[in-house]
Amino acid sequence: MKSVIDIPDLSVEEIDELIKTAGDIALHPEKYAKSCEGKILATLFYEPSTRTRLSFTAAMMELGGNVLGFSEPGSSSAVKGESVADTARVVSCYADIIAMRSPKEGAAFVAAKNATIPVINTGDGGHAHPTQTLGDLFTIYREKGRFNNLTVGFCGDLKYGRTVHSLIEAMSRYPDVRFVLISPDALKLPTFVKYEILARHNVLYTETDSLEEALPSLDILYMTRIQKERFTDPAEYERLKDSYILTVEKLASAKSDLCIMHPLPRVNEISVKVDKDPRACYFKQVENGKYMRMALILKLLASAKENPETEDLLAGRSVLINEMKCTNPRCITATEQELDHVFRVVDAEAGICRCVYCEKKMKADSGMMKRVVRR
Ligand code: CP
Repeated sequence: MKSVIDIPDLSVEEIDELIKTAGDIALHPEKYAKSCEGKILATLFYEPSTRTRLSFTAAMMELGGNVLGFSEPGSSSAVKGESVADTARVVSCYADIIAMRSPKEGAAFVAAKNATIPVINTGDGGHAHPTQTLGDLFTIYREKGRFNNLTVGFCGDLKYGRTVHSLIEAMSRYPDVRFVLISPDALKLPTFVKYEILARHNVLYTETDSLEEALPSLDILYMTRIQKERFTDPAEYERLKDSYILTVEKLASAKSDLCIMHPLPRVNEISVKVDKDPRACYFKQVENGKYMRMALILKLLASAKENPETEDLLAGRSVLINEMKCTNPRCITATEQELDHVFRVVDAEAGICRCVYCEKKMKADSGMMKRVVRR
C-alpha cells in the first residue's frame, strides 16, 4: 500500500491494523510524538475544508513532523493552468507525503500516478473521501466495540454524500450489518451503490423517507448535510434542504445506546440541543479522525520506505486506453485534456467498464473489447 484513493484500496486486515494503531496513539500520544521527525506532509487543498485539512495538519504536528501546502487553488499555480500531474511531481521534491482535496473526480488518482511519494485522497468531488470513513470506522469501533451485527441508518443526502457511499462500502464487508436508507426520493442512494456494493456483499437494507419510523431500530444513525454545492438547480436545493432535522423530541424513541454520527459540517440537520445528549458522537468523531489520520500517515510512510518504487495503480487490471472518453463533466479528464482516458473492465461479457479516475460506468463495444490491455 503506497497511496490511498478509495476505501477498497484498504483490506479489512489493513483497516484493523490502522484501528489498533489509532487506539494506541489515543492512549499513549507521547510514544508517537517524534515518529515523524524530519518528515513533511504537503496539504494540497483545492476545495474548502476545516476538519480534514486541520486534522491532517494536527496529526503530522503531533507526530513531530512538519506541514506545508495551500488551502485554496487561488494561492497555487493551478490558477496559471498547472496540471495536477505536474503539481504532484513538483511537490514530491518538497515533501514526504501528500494529502489532496479537489473538486475534480479522480484528481488524487492522477496525483498518485505521478508523485514519487504516497498520496492520500482527502476528497475528490463526489467520488471518495476515504479518511473520513477511516475516522467513522474508528468511532464505531470505540462506541460499539465491533462492526458486525449492527443496524446502521443513513439519513439525508444519500445521493451526493461521498462519506455515505464509502462507509457503506466499508461496513458491507462485515457480517450481519443491516442498513436503513432514509432520504427523500430525489436524494436516494444511487443504484450503482445498491447493485455493486450492497448486492455484491448480500447486505440487507430497507429504504424509507421517515426518520421517525426508522429511529427505534437503529444502533447507529449517520446524519448528513444536504449538499448545496452539488445541486445544479437552486430551487431543488431549497425544496429539499430541511428534509430532516434531528431533535431531542425525536430521539425519545431511539435506543439508549444509539450512536449519532455526522461527518460535519452540519447546517441545521441536527439541532444544537442534541449536542448535550450522551448519544451524540459527532465531535468525538472529529477527534477520532485525527488519530486515524496519524495511524495512516505512519503506515504509508513506513510502506514507502520499505518499497520506494513508484506504485502501478493499474497493476493486474484489464483496461481500455483511449478507446472512449469519460462523459462525466466532473471527471478530471474533462479539464486536464492531456490525460489518457483509461477504463477498467468490470464485466467483459457485457462490455461494462469504469473510468479509473471517477468510476463513471460506460459500455464499450465489441471492437473496443478486443483491444483490452492487461497491466
Ligand atoms: N468532514 C469533512 O470532510 O469536513 P471538512 O470539509 O471541513 O474537511
